[in-house]
Amino acid sequence: MLAKVDKNVCIGCGLCSSICPNVFSMGEDGLAVAITAPVPTNEEGNTQEACDSCPVNAIRIID
Ligand code: F3S
Repeated sequence: MLAKVDKNVCIGCGLCSSICPNVFSMGEDGLAVAITAPVPTNEEGNTQEACDSCPVNAIRIID
């Protein structure tokens, strides 16, 4: 599983980094960024939850 944040869509609400801080963090631009490595297996559930919780659907998950 790979996770990506579309910075053209993210509004910097911070929910993803709260739900899944091992995959998402907030950059200096105030927008979220995802790790570039594959999501660790034990973080897949949280990553999906973060994706589902993003208010503007900025997170893409690639299986
Ligand atoms: Fe941005 Fe959505 Fe996360 S708005 S900060 S990608 S929850």
